[in-house]
Amino acid sequence: MLELNNVNAYYGDVQVLRDISLSIRKGEIVTIVGANAAGKSTILKAISGTVPNAEGSIRFQGEELTVIPAHQRVEMGLVHVPEGRRLFPHLSVRENLEMGAYIKRARLQRMQTLQYVYGLLPRLKEREKQMADSLSGGEQQMCAIGRGLMARPELLMLDEPTLGLAPILVQWVFQLIRQIRDSGVTILLVEQNAHKALEVADRGYVLENGRIVMESTGDELLRDQGLRKAYLGM
Ligand SMILES: Nc1ncnc2c1ncn2[C@@H]1O[C@H](COP(=O)(O)OP(=O)(O)OP(=O)(O)O)[C@@H](O)[C@H]1O
Ligand SMILES: [Mg+2]
Repeated sequence: MLELNNVNAYYGDVQVLRDISLSIRKGEIVTIVGANAAGKSTILKAISGTVPNAEGSIRFQGEELTVIPAHQRVEMGLVHVPEGRRLFPHLSVRENLEMGAYIKRARLQRMQTLQYVYGLLPRLKEREKQMADSLSGGEQQMCAIGRGLMARPELLMLDEPTLGLAPILVQWVFQLIRQIRDSGVTILLVEQNAHKALEVADRGYVLENGRIVMESTGDELLRDQGLRKAYLGM
């Protein structure tokens, strides 16, 4: 479904991604783990088209993305839920969700999708009239994921969806990610919580200083001694 070949990315003169090659098959959950500043978010931004300086090839469902502007990539079914949620603070939950469905591919079905999202995330239905900036952190995260789903993604990219959440909510978000995949959406997940991310993922990539240094199934990576020391605190 998605294939990156030798992707480089720069902020000004500084190279942040080096020769990134990775692939995601339809129906997989794939995770990218790595330390702070390794370049995880930058990979997602390169895929969604929000890094100004990227080189190399990114193919999505057979089409070369690097020549396609960011807003058209969303129309193709590539949806990015960024780090830090980025809700519209002075819009209600319902309005935030509807903003996710303004694109062509999702507009006509938006009422059905809204029911699907409310079914998956009933808390959002209860709070639909509340302003986004008055939601709790966990509710904001639900709203951000819900807004992503409103765009009817083929591939959903989630950047640190459990950041700052209490352990019980963290557990719940990982369950939600499985449920979303089981409903037919392919998932690329970036997480600080490497252990949980590798548990839920089919495959994972380990990123160090902008380079992929390891790639395997989630289970294999969880068993890897070096990785356990470096990232899993074991
Ligand atoms: N807009 C920007 N301008 C300049 N440098 C940037 C910009 N965005 C990111 N960087 C730098 O690029 C590097 C990689 O950042 P990135 O956000 O991809 O890391 P990350 O792996 O997602 O880290 P974290 O786990 O802390 O979210 C960092 O050194 C960061 O300071
Ligand atoms: Mg990041």
